[in-house]
Amino acid sequence: MHLIAAARPNFMKVAPLWHALNEAPDFDPVLIHTGQHYDANMSDAIFEDLRLPQPDHHLGVGSGTHAEQTGRVMIAYEKVAMERRPDWLVVVGDVNSTVAAALVGAKLLIPTAHLEAGLRSRDRTMPEEINRIATDAICDVLWTPSPDGDRNLIAEGVPEARITRVGNIMLDSFEMTRPKIEAAGTAAEIGVTGAPYCVATLHRPANVDTNEPLRALVDCLKAVQRRLQLVFPVHPRTAARLRDTGMDAELEAAGVRLIAPLPYIRFMSLVTGAAAVITDSGGIQEETTYLGIPCFTLRENTERPITIEEGTNRLSTPAELPGLLEAALGEARSVRRRPVLWDGHTAERCVADLRARGEAPR
Ligand code: UD1
Repeated sequence: MHLIAAARPNFMKVAPLWHALNEAPDFDPVLIHTGQHYDANMSDAIFEDLRLPQPDHHLGVGSGTHAEQTGRVMIAYEKVAMERRPDWLVVVGDVNSTVAAALVGAKLLIPTAHLEAGLRSRDRTMPEEINRIATDAICDVLWTPSPDGDRNLIAEGVPEARITRVGNIMLDSFEMTRPKIEAAGTAAEIGVTGAPYCVATLHRPANVDTNEPLRALVDCLKAVQRRLQLVFPVHPRTAARLRDTGMDAELEAAGVRLIAPLPYIRFMSLVTGAAAVITDSGGIQEETTYLGIPCFTLRENTERPITIEEGTNRLSTPAELPGLLEAALGEARSVRRRPVLWDGHTAERCVADLRARGEAPR
């Protein structure tokens, strides 16, 4: 059984499944890190937080254009899969390595499961949307987090027999590490004490790669900072753009706390204590829904609509955000519900599904 881990958001999806498979007498998980993310805080420290072992294989693909990254993962992973063919391949999420490994599995006729299948933003300008559509089209087993995932797949003609709703694996990682998250005290450690604070994470190419949207974001963050302390762990892509434009100094001068990306436990500790979160990430929309923390997603769409329908998420433009935040801070925290099967037991359901299927349907 091969498990592919590639980029920061993947690790929280792979870890609970790796642990569940490792404890099962009938499975032997082999962990493969493609190396799409390689910085200590983007990778090694998160592995440690999630008690993942050193990967059995490290493909070392690094950064590059989409084609370079996807191609390198395909070439390197194909060698590993041909050398010792797994009985199953599991890919997670929607990053370039996900689709690359799934293509290799499909061509080698290795039964392949996609964990976090069926999510759709319907925005094909997002590289992740292309990765999601392509991966789901070629995988044998599609593990969905929510009913909208099932509906999207069925509308695309996927046979129902391939789909199993397993719930949201990210929250298994949260529950697995909850005591450490609760003990971490990140806000105090970075000197944010006393007053309520807001956490921001932004890295989508559409938001940060060009000057006009970046300018709008920076103005938005400065407006938020005038209302409450903003802590901004900066993704390397965003850090480079802020540095190039001098907007990092501008944010700092306004009082925004720019910090390096945090490992999982320290980051979740910061989020757990926040009054609100501003993001363009996928997973954080889900984690804030689980925790009941108001989340403002700076995107025009989301592949995770259940976080809006049932959770605490809302889409916003940079211009609208300060007003929406003000309103949310004034409201009693609304009683929202955790979507069904977002319960910390998704990995167990994946393992049960693998057992029930025996061999993947072809
Ligand atoms: C990738 C994923 C995105 C995910 C994000 C989370 C794709 C298409 N995108 O985007 O879905 O939400 O990861 O972080 O797969 N870099 C580092 N250190 C690292 C990793 C990247 O410095 O550990 C730098 C790269 O050199 C590059 C930039 O950050 O300049 C972007 O990295 P890349 O992996 O291309 O895409 P992400 O924006 O991280």
